[in-house]
Amino acid sequence: MKAAVFTAIKQPLVLQEVPEPVAGPGHAVVRLQAAALNHRDLWMQLGLYPNIQVPITPGSDGAGVVTAVGSPADTAWVGQEVIINPALDWGADPRAQGPNFRILGLPDQGTFAEQVVVPAANLAPKPAHLTWEQAAALPLAGLTAWRALFTRAQLKSGERVLVTGVGGGAALFALQFAVAAGASAWVTSGSPEKIARAQGLGALGGVNYQDPDWAAALQKRAGAFDVIIDSAGGEGFAQLIDLSAPGGRIVFFGATRGNPKGLDMRKCFFRQITVLGTTMGSPADFAGMTAMVQRHKIMPVVDRAFALASADDALRHMEAGRQFGKIVITTG
Ligand SMILES: NC(=O)c1ccc[n+]([C@@H]2O[C@H](COP(=O)([O-])OP(=O)(O)OC[C@H]3O[C@@H](n4cnc5c(N)ncnc54)[C@H](OP(=O)(O)O)[C@@H]3O)[C@@H](O)[C@H]2O)c1
Repeated sequence: MKAAVFTAIKQPLVLQEVPEPVAGPGHAVVRLQAAALNHRDLWMQLGLYPNIQVPITPGSDGAGVVTAVGSPADTAWVGQEVIINPALDWGADPRAQGPNFRILGLPDQGTFAEQVVVPAANLAPKPAHLTWEQAAALPLAGLTAWRALFTRAQLKSGERVLVTGVGGGAALFALQFAVAAGASAWVTSGSPEKIARAQGLGALGGVNYQDPDWAAALQKRAGAFDVIIDSAGGEGFAQLIDLSAPGGRIVFFGATRGNPKGLDMRKCFFRQITVLGTTMGSPADFAGMTAMVQRHKIMPVVDRAFALASADDALRHMEAGRQFGKIVITTG
């Protein structure tokens, strides 16, 4: 079968012929129709992801049809249309992943391929209202955003939410889920067009984080926030503390802009602010996320689809940061 492979870091993905995957006990082979990018795939190519081993087929997100299983107990999956939960071996504790936790696509071979083998426990039915491309866009970013909002921040209907960098894959799901949950959502972005598109998805408004006075302008228009979802970090993180309401929760799952220079501890403790880290999600989080997507008929936003042979162009598109939502690779 064909797969897009990193043969060395800082080198383009190469379309290669690789061995067909085989389903061992408890595993299933999925013939993929579509995969999707996450920033992790780009960090790997840039050599900025921990414990990179090459050759590796990246890709954490996928949707397709189960063609084989390794255990008789899983036979009912054969022929089913599925999405894949990329959080492998989360472990028994819903509060945090265990020592065997891995994200599909390193060290396990990932979804930028015609087929992938995954634990049968990580299969879920493809939501019927989604196309293959939309379904492939959902798992990693949807899971991360859902856990951030609901398991970690305990978001309630009517609360005020800020989602930073809304053009990002996970950020855009956070906006869609927050709106579906009845929250009042505001956004930041580096692009006025993306803010306008976010408003089309239910955001009340937004500001450009490249404007030096963005935080003051946002506070003037929107007030303070009960929940802030961030994956940029960096210097802008200090303003998130300022924008947080008393008793507010700031949840972050990425540090695209690096570490903040400092943390104003006095502002945090005096205003009873909770700062929460989160990563991916448990099986229960994944089930909660897919249930919400089905209940509210949420449609993942696909920015653009690339053919498997052009997977490296898809990474360049992500590196340029022009996307609004998810970048997809068609593999079928
Ligand atoms: N821990 C986890 O489980 C987990 C899961 C998913 C992602 N992540 C991490 O979260 C980050 C985003 O991942 P992704 O896959 O969603 O990436 P992505 O689709 O490439 O989105 C990145 C977004 O970052 C935003 N951004 C850039 N500079 C910013 C700034 N100064 N302030 C605010 N936002 C800024 C941009 O938003 P605009 O386009 O609107 O300007 C951009 O679209 C990455 O660091 C990734 O590694 C972690």
